[in-house]
Amino acid sequence: MLTETTETISPDLFRAALSHWASGVTVVTTRDAAGQNHGFTASAFSSVSLDPALVLVCLDNRANCFDAFDSSEGFVVHLLARDQQELAGRFASKGADKFAGSGVTLSPAGQPLLPGALARLECRTERRVPGGDHLILIGEVHQASEREGEPLVYFQRRFHDLTPAG
Ligand SMILES: Cc1cc2nc3c(=O)[nH]c(=O)nc-3n(C[C@H](O)[C@H](O)[C@H](O)COP(=O)(O)O)c2cc1C
Repeated sequence: MLTETTETISPDLFRAALSHWASGVTVVTTRDAAGQNHGFTASAFSSVSLDPALVLVCLDNRANCFDAFDSSEGFVVHLLARDQQELAGRFASKGADKFAGSGVTLSPAGQPLLPGALARLECRTERRVPGGDHLILIGEVHQASEREGEPLVYFQRRFHDLTPAG
């Protein structure tokens, strides 16, 4: 009798393989119905579509901010500049008062905006798709701002500056 076996990669090997992917770093924010700001650092970000303008970000199901993102109407993706490593660390720390002293303001749509990013993408939550132990948040970008500057880069579990090649 043929038996089907399911082979799965070990989490350690999966993490080690993914550590070779260099990415930018984002901080994603939202505001809950009670007026509380929430946010987390994310490298699992991608553009999805140009027309309509869609992006995605993946949120760990165990994140403290999960419920806020799972129920909010929108979110803001901040593409971080090279001098925002402290902000990236703060929004990756559980329990920290992440917005204290951050200079947060509210967008016309009522979402938290942080200063200093290279770009900000203000999104309406278009769809939420379960993705294993993460939730894929797909947002339609309805407002954006951007400026010149060098990005913060994450590679091999460390932050880096981008050094132009050539
Ligand atoms: C460079 C970096 C990238 C990260 N990328 C993600 C990500 O894409 N998705 C995610 O859910 N958590 C990611 N994290 C972890 C979260 O930022 C962290 O667990 C955060 O504290 C979760 O929010 P919480 O405090 O509400 O639980 C990343 C952390 C770092 C340092």
